Amino acid sequence: MSKRTVLTGITTTGTPHLGNYVGAIKPCIQASHDTSVQSYYFLADYHALVKNQDPERMRQSTLEIAATWLALGLDTERAVFYRQSDVPEIPELTWILTCSTAKGLMNRAHAYKGAVQENVENGEDPDFAITMGLFSYPVLMAADILMFNSTHVPVGKDQVQHLEMARDIAQRFNHHYGDFFVLPEAVVEEHVALLPGKDGRKMSKSYNNTIPLWLPEKQLRKAIMRIVTNSLEPGEPKDPADSALYSIFAAFASQQQREDMQQAYREGIAWGQAKQQTFELINDELTQARERYEALMAEPAHIEETLLEGAVKARAYATPFLDRIRDAVGIRKLT
Ligand code: TRP
Repeated sequence: MSKRTVLTGITTTGTPHLGNYVGAIKPCIQASHDTSVQSYYFLADYHALVKNQDPERMRQSTLEIAATWLALGLDTERAVFYRQSDVPEIPELTWILTCSTAKGLMNRAHAYKGAVQENVENGEDPDFAITMGLFSYPVLMAADILMFNSTHVPVGKDQVQHLEMARDIAQRFNHHYGDFFVLPEAVVEEHVALLPGKDGRKMSKSYNNTIPLWLPEKQLRKAIMRIVTNSLEPGEPKDPADSALYSIFAAFASQQQREDMQQAYREGIAWGQAKQQTFELINDELTQARERYEALMAEPAHIEETLLEGAVKARAYATPFLDRIRDAVGIRKLT
């Protein structure tokens, strides 16, 4: 049986926060040590370009996200870790796939439809500020996935439709040209995807309720102290199931630590104390990695080199595969 091929992309916008860490980065890094899996993790900078047209922010975010994955112990010997834009086969495959993609399929994409609907609600032209990049986003994502014949793609719930589209695109290509692409499956981790933010809603940049992953210790403590709790006094029993603070604690805790904390809630632990313990737990998990992160950020040349090594490995697969695809569609030498 052939190995599972796990692949996921990280859009290089913004600064990594605890929700990204718990929901995506940590499980992927753990999986990178699994010998029965071939994994590909990449920085989706061409996807970031759809939303981010500030060149300096593009660079900064790519640097921070790469440093984050490396600081947290991604096994780059085993996993292929690269930057999308260092693999020119991906945009080339994107065009080939674009030619087998129904426009009607793209019309149904949630992100595109949402943007159109917002324009209509605001009394604008339906296409106002919508680029072809936004419209074709799912084709680029399909190329990312199909380029490496990925079998399993860990993503958040919001990306499931994109995976269905990647399958559709692959099927249509295979039907016309022969069996080239493996049909990928989305892997959605229901329980971890839901780390709440400081206000109790899902931790997300769009709600402005995130806790950045690499805050210095003092600021991390402050941010945790600001997590919203109810007004129950010390000594009054508290319900862990109804507490964002508890959910955040639980995402970092062992089974035993969770049970102990639940007990403490029921016995009326003071919110200040529960916050202090939550801070200590998270801080202990991050302290060493934070030092590595800071060292890496001070040495971008090292990160650059690591990414270029990753691209060499990615291209070792992508170049010959794309040659076959080009041949299949009839882009061939004349002699
Ligand atoms: N669109 C994904 C997101 O916003 C990022 C991404 C780009 C991706 N290409 C991918 C995820 C390929 C999985 C596979 O989260």
